[in-house]
Amino acid sequence: MASETKEPGAIRIKHVSKIYDPQGVHVEAMRDCSFDIAAGEMAIIVGPSGCGKTTLLNAIAGFDDITAGEIFLDGELISSPTYQIKPNVDRMVVFQNGALFPWKTVIENIAYGPMVQGRLTKAAARDKAREMLEWVCLNGMEEKYPEELSSGVQRRVEILRALINEPRVVMLDEPFRGLDAVSKTVMHEFLMQLFCNRNRTMFFITHDLDEAIFLGHKVVIMTTRPAQVKKIVPIDLPWPREHRIMNSKRYLELKGEILEAVHEEAKKAFQAGERELA
Ligand SMILES: Nc1ncnc2c1ncn2[C@@H]1O[C@H](COP(=O)(O)OP(=O)(O)OP(=O)(O)O)[C@@H](O)[C@H]1O
Ligand SMILES: [Mg+2]
Repeated sequence: MASETKEPGAIRIKHVSKIYDPQGVHVEAMRDCSFDIAAGEMAIIVGPSGCGKTTLLNAIAGFDDITAGEIFLDGELISSPTYQIKPNVDRMVVFQNGALFPWKTVIENIAYGPMVQGRLTKAAARDKAREMLEWVCLNGMEEKYPEELSSGVQRRVEILRALINEPRVVMLDEPFRGLDAVSKTVMHEFLMQLFCNRNRTMFFITHDLDEAIFLGHKVVIMTTRPAQVKKIVPIDLPWPREHRIMNSKRYLELKGEILEAVHEEAKKAFQAGERELA
C-alpha cells in the first residue's frame, strides 16, 4: 500500500461518498468529501443536523463502508468501496451517549481495553489507569461506579478509557451534548490540556460553535445533506487557550465567519425539511 504521509495520526479523506441502501430507500449522506487532518491536529466538524457527520466518523472508525472514494491513515488505505480495515485501537471513538460499563468501577472501566486485548497485564493496566486519573485530578474516584459520578466526570472517564489505548486518532461525536455551559468550559480546558500535551489527532463533531472555535486547529463546515465540505476555517488563535479568549476581536471575527457559513446551510436544511413535509 502506498505510504502518503509518515506522521502518526494523519487522516486523508479523498472524494468520499456514501449512499445508504442504494437499491432501496437510497439516502445520499456524503458526496465527494475531501480534506486532510494532520497528525496531532484537532479538527472540528460542524454542519446541520442529519447532514452526514456521524456517517463520516463511522467510515473513518471502520464501523461502516463507503460508496466511493478512499480514506487513509498515515498513508495506509483504511477504507474504500472494496476494502475496509476493521475498527481497532488506532482509531478510538468516544460515543455520544456514553458507554461505560455500569457494573464496573472507574478504574476497571479504564483498564478494560488494554487488558482484554492482552496488551497489558491486569496490574499494569490498572497502574496506567490510576496514573491517568491523577493527570486529570480524578484520583479518589477509582472505586466508584458510573452511576455515582456526575455526567461531567463520566465524560472524562470515557475519554481516558479511549486514550489508555494510545490511539493515533480519537473521534468524539458531540461528547459534551447535554452538559451545562459552565461544565463545558471546564471540559474544554481539560480536553485541550490532554490533547496538546499528547499530540493526538482529534476528529470532533459538534453543533456548538464556541466549542468548535475554542478547541479547534481548524473547523470543517459541512453542507446540508448530502454532506460536502463547504468551507475549512483555520483557527489562528494562540495556544494554550483560556476561556477569556472568547472576548478577543479575532475570536469574534472567526465566529462571525463560521456562523455565516453554518447559518446558510441550516437555512437550506430548514427549507428542504419544509419541502419534504409539503
Ligand atoms: N443506516 C442508515 N440507513 C439509512 N439512512 C441512514 C442511516 N444512518 C444514517 N442515515 C441517514 O443519513 C443521513 C446522515 O446521517 P448522520 O447520522 O451521518 O447525520 P449527522 O450529521 O451526524 O446528524 P446529527 O447532527 O443529527 O447527529 C441522515 O439523513 C440519516 O437519517
Ligand atoms: Mg450525528
